Amino acid sequence: MSELLDKHIVLGLSGGVACYKAAELCRALVKQGATVQVVMTEAAAQFITPVTMQALSNRPVFVSQWDAREPNNMAHINLTREADAMLVAPASADFMAKLLHGRADDLLSLMCLARPIDKVPLLLAPAMNREMWSHPATQRNMSQLRADGAHVLGVGQGEQACGETGDGRMLEPDELLQEVVKLFQPKVLQGKNVLVSAGPTFEAIDPVRGITNLSSGKMGFALAHAAHQAGANVTLVAGPVALTTPYGVRRWDVRSALEMHAAVMSHVDKADVFIATAAVADWRPAQVATEKIKKAASGHMPAIDWAENPDILAQVASSARAQNGQLFCVGFAAESHDLAAHAQAKRQRKQVPLLVGNIGANTFGSDDNTLMLVDEFSVIEWPKDAKLRLARKLVAEIAARLPSFRKTT
Ligand code: CTP
Repeated sequence: MSELLDKHIVLGLSGGVACYKAAELCRALVKQGATVQVVMTEAAAQFITPVTMQALSNRPVFVSQWDAREPNNMAHINLTREADAMLVAPASADFMAKLLHGRADDLLSLMCLARPIDKVPLLLAPAMNREMWSHPATQRNMSQLRADGAHVLGVGQGEQACGETGDGRMLEPDELLQEVVKLFQPKVLQGKNVLVSAGPTFEAIDPVRGITNLSSGKMGFALAHAAHQAGANVTLVAGPVALTTPYGVRRWDVRSALEMHAAVMSHVDKADVFIATAAVADWRPAQVATEKIKKAASGHMPAIDWAENPDILAQVASSARAQNGQLFCVGFAAESHDLAAHAQAKRQRKQVPLLVGNIGANTFGSDDNTLMLVDEFSVIEWPKDAKLRLARKLVAEIAARLPSFRKTT
């Protein structure tokens, strides 16, 4: 998916070792369809050359406000007027101190000041040594910059170029890319707490075997990602899947249905929305053998007694908070046939206002999906599309059904 098609991003670099990450970031932004105009301070040009950034962005790089290439010699105006956003990465402690005072004695800070403040959001990706980061002056400057409307991003933690370890590393290029993409997403779930269950469960038979299913978790992960980008605080309870945690999402890994049940129950009290995409095993072996079950001499498979797993969604949907409208529950159903009928029956049985049906064989493991939304009044079909695009549509649909949304619109 080209996430930044038609977007024009000014990528500013101030001085810091993290400039090497800005090269990767520039590439990632271009790959997502953005046009990227790089502007560097003279300090940044000590760490990485404008030549590298020009090659990666495919546009001339600007360093000086006296650059005579602009016919009117007003690079600070010309370069900010077509921008959809400005991202300074790395933003050094010194550069942020300068911005805070509205100083403008180099092209990049001049552009930050001269940009149309209501039209061109400014993202700052701090990068510095841990002592500089925790210094009261830096912290004070950042809160003032936030108050002035800048989006000051967080920092990473770990080993630093100086050999020390702590907070202050610039976020990774992919994390910064996600921040830029997020900036352009409508904030339909701003401040809401969203809980998502995803993936299969694994029900142990003995220490080396178990039963599971083909759910890949991709739809649930896409929904968690989309909800976060829509402004929600997202907790993702994930069964055993090999997927990267979406940026900004809190993840709890579980294995069995009982573990998933416990994790959901411990987080659901604070949730405004619960989206149950997990393919939870309905049954588990009543006893888990402590040792590997050996092949029987009889040639018959040993019988297994089964115990029923709790229905997590049904239990959550019958809670007082869900029943009085404080918690909006969405179920999923992966079926093999008669989707509309099964989905409607499941919705009623589980008492959820919205149930999303899909055909298991089409969705498991795939990056695309086809969805059917079933509620009390209607059945809507969404044609085949990327799971992330469908997830964004579904997030908007859920947001429109929340009581708070209905009151304010
Ligand atoms: N679900 C759940 N806990 C369970 C079983 C299902 O939370 N123990 C949730 C799923 O996450 C999904 C919805 O219920 O949102 C429907 O799941 P599905 O497995 O399709 O439904 P079942 O009730 O198991 O029905 P069946 O297996 O007969 O189709």
